[in-house]
Amino acid sequence: MNVHTHTVNTLLGAIAGVGKDARRGGYTRPVHSSAETTLREWFTAEAAARSLEVSTDANGIIWAWWDLPGSAKDEASRRGALVTGSHLDSVPGGGAFDGPLGVASALAAYDELAGRVATGSLVRNRALALAVFPEEEGSRFGVACLGSRLLTGAIDPARALQLRDGEGNTFAEVAAANGLDPARMGRDDAALARIGDFIELHVEQGQGLNSPAHTDDAGRGPAVAVGGSILGHGRWRLSFFGQGNHAGTTLMADRADPMVAAAQAIVAVRRIAAAQDDARATVGRIEPVPGGTNAIASRVDMWLDVRHPDDAVTAMLVEKIHGQAQKLAAFEGCSVHLTEESFSNTVHFDSGLVRSLSNSVRRQVPDAPLLPTGAGHDAGVLAAKVPAGMLYVRNPSGISHSPQEHVEDDDAAAGVLALADALAELL
Ligand code: GLV
Ligand code: MN
Ligand code: MN
Repeated sequence: MNVHTHTVNTLLGAIAGVGKDARRGGYTRPVHSSAETTLREWFTAEAAARSLEVSTDANGIIWAWWDLPGSAKDEASRRGALVTGSHLDSVPGGGAFDGPLGVASALAAYDELAGRVATGSLVRNRALALAVFPEEEGSRFGVACLGSRLLTGAIDPARALQLRDGEGNTFAEVAAANGLDPARMGRDDAALARIGDFIELHVEQGQGLNSPAHTDDAGRGPAVAVGGSILGHGRWRLSFFGQGNHAGTTLMADRADPMVAAAQAIVAVRRIAAAQDDARATVGRIEPVPGGTNAIASRVDMWLDVRHPDDAVTAMLVEKIHGQAQKLAAFEGCSVHLTEESFSNTVHFDSGLVRSLSNSVRRQVPDAPLLPTGAGHDAGVLAAKVPAGMLYVRNPSGISHSPQEHVEDDDAAAGVLALADALAELL
């Protein structure tokens, strides 16, 4: 076992028991839950143990600074720094690597770079910061990448503060209970000026590295890829309204059952997306109100995730789905209302950074390809304001947002070295 494997395993091993979900399997670590708070404390302790200066900003983003020696640690000395990191929150029942791999690899890459500086093989000209972004998954408040959206001004803080979680708590209330000042949240130009380049390492979440174009005779792909683009994606809520009533006394002909309309709409979502090249559309969550076995629902909320490389096509698909849902709802004597919850354009990462990442990564992993991804990331949101890029580490099955997500030890080690080399090149 080499030193990088050891570091990533040790780091991820230390949090392996945090936020385990006995019912769903895997991990459930929503932002500001006790699990995510424990992970934030773990990161803070790991960074402090490395003598990095740690602080949490107004938007709840954690920054751990490796300043230049003799630096004043002020705005001027940190402007244009190199930043790497990811997130610690998870989807419900998610895997161990989506987010934490990038955070653990950032710490391990720091260890590697600090070693190079100590031996004189690396001379730094820039500060480095490790960052942890809150609510990347949007699994608690519905808007993905909430921390980076607030930082960049991609979401109005007034809207963000009113978002509610499943228990009805507002983001403002939850943030305040976790030591943040809601009045200070929002676009932070000073923090943005500190990011010269942002690099996020992430577990690969599809079949990119496993595709025949990249695999060897044994069917094994390279350990690391460089990110090229992120598919445009968004989330919408379709709320179906009907007549809540008694399951036993309401004749079938007398019903206005929004559950039936929603069920048919789910089938229509698949049909509409399947007919469009490169489209993906998913209904992964549905909530009937009141949700009783012996009650016809009065309302059903279902959440729609639609993705396509062309943002105009995404808009067209959502329009089609909405139109179909209206027809299906009317046929059942119900109505439907569509609300956009979040949207992210298709992003092409900064070409200069992609070139630099490709050159340095290919020293370790000569066949590292450039991959597009269908998954969203804070790097994609930050890319609107600063040069951003990504590295992906091989996931043998490609499965993600599932307990089965996996990264092999050697690939994690290759990821750390690739990240360290890429950072060294830019430092
Ligand atoms: C986050 O991983 C997303 O793509 O939704
Ligand atoms: Mn994810
Ligand atoms: Mn992620």
